[in-house]
Amino acid sequence: MQSHWDRVYDGKDITKLGWYQKKPQPSIKLIGSLNLDKKSRIFIAGAGATTLVDHLLQEGYNSITACDISKKALDHLKARVGEDNVNYIVDDLTCMNHSVNDIDLWYDRAVLHFLTEEEKRMAYWEHMDNAVKNGGHVIIAAFSTEGARKCSGLDVHRYNKDMLVEFMGEKYELLKAFDHIYTMPSGDKRPYVYTLFRKR
Ligand SMILES: C[S@@+](CC[C@H](N)C(=O)[O-])C[C@H]1O[C@@H](n2cnc3c(N)ncnc32)[C@H](O)[C@@H]1O
Repeated sequence: MQSHWDRVYDGKDITKLGWYQKKPQPSIKLIGSLNLDKKSRIFIAGAGATTLVDHLLQEGYNSITACDISKKALDHLKARVGEDNVNYIVDDLTCMNHSVNDIDLWYDRAVLHFLTEEEKRMAYWEHMDNAVKNGGHVIIAAFSTEGARKCSGLDVHRYNKDMLVEFMGEKYELLKAFDHIYTMPSGDKRPYVYTLFRKR
């Protein structure tokens, strides 16, 4: 899997990738609604080269962790935003070697939906739950059940709000959910479901 994603990012113009956002508006809106302290520990799961990091740094957040299975992906991000206030970890969210804890916000856009096996989804959930502190928040944005069956040539497990509520379980309270149609650089549309949870 790592080699797939390294190939996807290696030497690529990231603005052409099928999930590139010039400004990640729905995420900005959700994170803004939380009024987080700038010192909040924000963990970006499967960060890739997301422009959300640029936005968070501009807003003054200073404890960001960008995690991705692909070093090539994080190299793009590092070259663009540098290393001040961002910690980079190359790791697989389904079997993490790094220990991550006391996270105020776990953020995942277009990553969980690649976990097509129940076992991997459960492993992801365990890592997430160990990382997020009580009262912390989780944002998950995934391909919706109305959306495409593949992303980056890989099968995806699609979600609606209720499926994400079930995935997160009783420890997590749903605060917000909405559908969003993302337009790819190619002009194709990709329906997503966005959810925001709070750990009880
Ligand atoms: C579709 S991209 C989305 C990137 C970013 N979240 C965004 O919104 O621009 C999926 C990202 O998840 C990463 N990824 C896929 N499976 C992963 C895993 N098991 N652990 C960590 N990262 C993973 C890929 O390398 C890729 O950067």
